[in-house]
Amino acid sequence: MPAAPIRSICCIGAGYVGGPTMAVIADRCADIQVTVVDINQARIDAWNDPDLSKLPVYEPGLDAVVGRARSRNLRFSTAVDEAIAAADMVFISVNTPTKTKGLGAGQASDLRWVEACARQVAKSAQGHTIVVEKSTLPVRTAEAVKAILSAAQQSDHGEPRSFAVLSNPEFLAEGTAVRDLESPDRVLIGGEHPEAIDALASVYGHWVPQERILRTNLWSSELSKLTANAFLAQRISSINSVAALCEATGADVREVARAIGTDSRIGPKFLNAGPGFGGSCFQKDILNLVYLCRHFGLPEVADYWESVVNLNSWQQHRIARTVVQKLFGTVTGKRLAILGFAFKADTNDTREAPAIRIARDLLEEGAQLAIHDPKVESEQIARDLGLIASEAPDAESGPTRASLSGEGTWWPSASVADALDGADGVLILTEWNEYRQLDWSDLAQRMRQPAWVFDARSVVSREAIHAAGLQLWRVGDGDA
Ligand code: NAD
Ligand code: UGA
Repeated sequence: MPAAPIRSICCIGAGYVGGPTMAVIADRCADIQVTVVDINQARIDAWNDPDLSKLPVYEPGLDAVVGRARSRNLRFSTAVDEAIAAADMVFISVNTPTKTKGLGAGQASDLRWVEACARQVAKSAQGHTIVVEKSTLPVRTAEAVKAILSAAQQSDHGEPRSFAVLSNPEFLAEGTAVRDLESPDRVLIGGEHPEAIDALASVYGHWVPQERILRTNLWSSELSKLTANAFLAQRISSINSVAALCEATGADVREVARAIGTDSRIGPKFLNAGPGFGGSCFQKDILNLVYLCRHFGLPEVADYWESVVNLNSWQQHRIARTVVQKLFGTVTGKRLAILGFAFKADTNDTREAPAIRIARDLLEEGAQLAIHDPKVESEQIARDLGLIASEAPDAESGPTRASLSGEGTWWPSASVADALDGADGVLILTEWNEYRQLDWSDLAQRMRQPAWVFDARSVVSREAIHAAGLQLWRVGDGDA
């Protein structure tokens, strides 16, 4: 039997994944009504803001896609039950953070929001509904979703209902979300019902070539998502471990990465050494994998993957330690500039950003941090550091007269130049394009000498820094 065409989609969760993914589906499928729902009224209001620069997620190109689709077949709403009732297909795209307490705290995924969605679908769906897991989930979560739905085969009014559950994990990366969604390497659909798989494949088939739509069983699909993130993160920890060895031996990690990356079996991507991976998912997904391995009696496998996360934390603490060591063993009362707070360029997202851990270590040492980021709001930085911003001190007062009380402080800087005023060192922690084009001979005049540039993202040129009379530490550069 051919799959009935999908006319109406509801997506629960208007976050970094739900918003952009549904905007692209609506943009590419003019014949499908797409409604994105969320319990967070402020987030929905922001998605509906007539001023497209106020969308709650910053992604290059997203404003144009949302602008086109919103006036046609894309809606954002808080009317969750209504949207579920009208939908042929419901995506669950809610947050699945690491549990903070109870069984598996610190590792297992907190599935309360996913379960709440399954129960809400069980309550409000009508007729036949295809339920799609879009969130990243522990393998075998679909079992629980199916159990909740199968207990609801009749509506409150006695009308028959049926459900099919699919897994369709999302592989987009932040900052390139629109490009990744419009031209994905692959779309993965796991399921048990061929008609349901066909129905979802035909939605993507509006713009994705059929050969890029992979079909698997439910468990392979759920596990492939965790595995993909684990492999990507593992490459970063591997190259960061080699970066430390480069620094100790006079090798250069960029040269090593190029040398190994040209081997077609290794490939050149995800070999940039840096301040460690951040973002909402790598750490949480690997920890989830670690928890699952222990749960299934595979402690050696768990230890193997856990070391990827441990190396990442070590790299971040190592960078903070290096700064302290280079600045004569103390940063108490010294001004340091931090350029970049987002976990990567082209996003305003700071979740698990390396800058958080590094800044906290430096604050703990009593540093005074001037923090600049072109997209991150200062309120967000205050939340992440657990410390409200102080007033920007008078640039003239200089670090020698700064507080030596040992209390770390920070303030937001509107410009790179302001951030560097009177600073003993500057840390580059996000690879924003504007940091690649700085005039170091001009900036050096603003710093207290001898001053250091700590480039954790390989964005500056060694020659430009040395020509400006500054000292340089570059990640993985044994010859800086
Ligand atoms: P997010 O926190 O940005 O958004 C989740 C949204 O779901 C929130 O707005 C929240 O209010 C809403 N929500 C939670 N429970 C709800 C309920 N019962 N009803 C209605 N709304 C509800 O999260 P995200 O970054 O979009 O991630 C969502 C999922 O996608 C996670 O499992 C994540 O691991 C996965 N993922 C994320 C990315 C990424 O780049 N951020 C990429 C791939 C996969
Ligand atoms: C990552 C994956 O790339 C996506 O495929 C996946 O869908 C997503 O996680 C998810 O599940 O959330 P994202 O976290 O948005 O996407 O960004 P990445 O580009 O993967 O970067 C993650 C972190 O690794 C960043 O902090 C980045 O700076 C760092 N990174 C990346 C490096 O340090 N070196 C590299 O070579 C690449």
